Amino acid sequence: MAAQNALEGLRKRHAEAQLGGGEDRIKKQHAAGKLTARERVDRLLDPGSFVELDKFKTHRCTDFGMESKKTPGDGVVTGYGKIDGRHVVVFSQDFTVLGGSLGEAFAEKVCKVMDFATKQGYPVIGLNDSGGARIQEGVASLGGYADIFLRNALASGVVPQISAIMGPCAGGAVYSPAMTDFIFMVENTSYMFITGPDVIKTVTREEVTMEDLGGAITHNTRSGVADRHFVNDEECLARIRELMSYLPANNTEDPPTLTCTDDPERRDATLNDIVPENPNKPYDMFEIINRVVDDGQFFEIQPDYAKNIVIGFARLNGRSVGIVANQPSVMAGCLDINSSIKAARFVRFCDCFNIPIVTFVDVPGFLPGTAQEYGGIIKHGAKLLYAYCEATVPKVTVITRKAYGGAYDVMSSKHIRGDINLAYPSAEIAVMGPDGAVNIIFRKEIKEAGDDASKRTELVDNYREAFANPYKAAELGYIDDIIVPEDTRPQLINALEMLKTKRDTNPPKKHGNIPL
Ligand code: HXC
Repeated sequence: MAAQNALEGLRKRHAEAQLGGGEDRIKKQHAAGKLTARERVDRLLDPGSFVELDKFKTHRCTDFGMESKKTPGDGVVTGYGKIDGRHVVVFSQDFTVLGGSLGEAFAEKVCKVMDFATKQGYPVIGLNDSGGARIQEGVASLGGYADIFLRNALASGVVPQISAIMGPCAGGAVYSPAMTDFIFMVENTSYMFITGPDVIKTVTREEVTMEDLGGAITHNTRSGVADRHFVNDEECLARIRELMSYLPANNTEDPPTLTCTDDPERRDATLNDIVPENPNKPYDMFEIINRVVDDGQFFEIQPDYAKNIVIGFARLNGRSVGIVANQPSVMAGCLDINSSIKAARFVRFCDCFNIPIVTFVDVPGFLPGTAQEYGGIIKHGAKLLYAYCEATVPKVTVITRKAYGGAYDVMSSKHIRGDINLAYPSAEIAVMGPDGAVNIIFRKEIKEAGDDASKRTELVDNYREAFANPYKAAELGYIDDIIVPEDTRPQLINALEMLKTKRDTNPPKKHGNIPL
């Protein structure tokens, strides 16, 4: 009997914890178009795989009448489970309990699973939906955040850390997601900002809505803080699962290899005609990427930000690769501040987690202008250069058309440890494009020709003939081969297969000093 009572007691406690902030608040959460913290965990993980920890943990605060506001679990659901049979740890903030606000006990729960993750080598997935620091707990809340920030920094490069923003995320609460590898946001229900609209109005008199200030679209298109946005919680969680399929569990593992049903020898003759003959005519780099990767599947990162560069994950013969590609259909594919930062961070992520990098190059150079220079293009462009230089994962490069000036060097050139560098016959590899070049080296001749434009045209044609091709670079060994575009897929797969055993290291150091 006593045992039965004990079991009944446990069941009751479980049921109470399961309800979080209670039925009414759960209804409110649903009415706002959001799933609850537990529903999110269930959808994120393989069915039945979640093991919860600290379900009965409560806060210890006695200020502001808090002793009567204890909820088992304290507003965050934490534990471990599996995605496609592979372990991850997860914390899911429960907005129904004190607005998901973070206090001391809450932070301890998050830290506990983060410590497990770094010790076991499991990815951390944080589902954020919180009013930020729990005001009643004062500085203990701030300390709790800092404890998490420290773990974010220490886990960086050891295990992948993924953040979903699925509700408000204010103040210091944005900094933990900001230190993770990827941020996914849900449209219309998620917000990220350091100070909200009211504070902004008081301090700067600026009037702005929550959505414009820190909504999913803002952070995916303007600030570049977020990496993807999705219509609802379900879609967001499903796409986190998809992202995880490209990633290893930690920095000592290789990314998973899936069975590939797309023929590794598949050639695609349409590739021969994608790059237009006219070097000034744009084309869509996705046309190449989608035709080359397994089953045309490309998981793009930051698709709505700095579209002049494309980054994301794909597979080649079942193996994960990170793709970086200039996009000639947006700003001619030039490198500017935003695209350099976007690609640099991605290259570093791939390098942290042993994901080979495939780079498609069609870049006329860095974007000229005072806005870029004053904005620090020198420093920001150097981030991408630095990232490629330090990366020791296999690096395979395909120059489809332009590779001019410093941008040639930056985009995973041979000189900065590109392993296999290929070019299409349409490639133009030189210090600068024909127009700019003749204006400088034939200034006198062009002036003397006066109104006779044919002289200039002749000089441009001569230059193009002599330099705007891949053969000079190939003669120097800066290009390993000039390939027929239709062979791109088998060429890349062969190169990556050969590079499977690549071993390369950087000189021992505490850490480098990337131009931040
Ligand atoms: C304690 C909080 C809370 C908080 C919300 N709640 N935020 N309790 N501390 N930070 C409680 C509310 O009192 C309310 O409880 C319940 O959660 C739901 O909140 P509502 O306001 O009713 O919900 P909603 O209208 O949806 O608005 C959500 C919100 C708003 C936008 C998040 O609550 C809000 O602005 N909260 C404060 C955000 C903030 O400034 N946080 C501190 C940031 S500073 P009841 O019982 O009334 O329903 C920070 C510093 C960290 O985080 C620094 C680390 C370095």
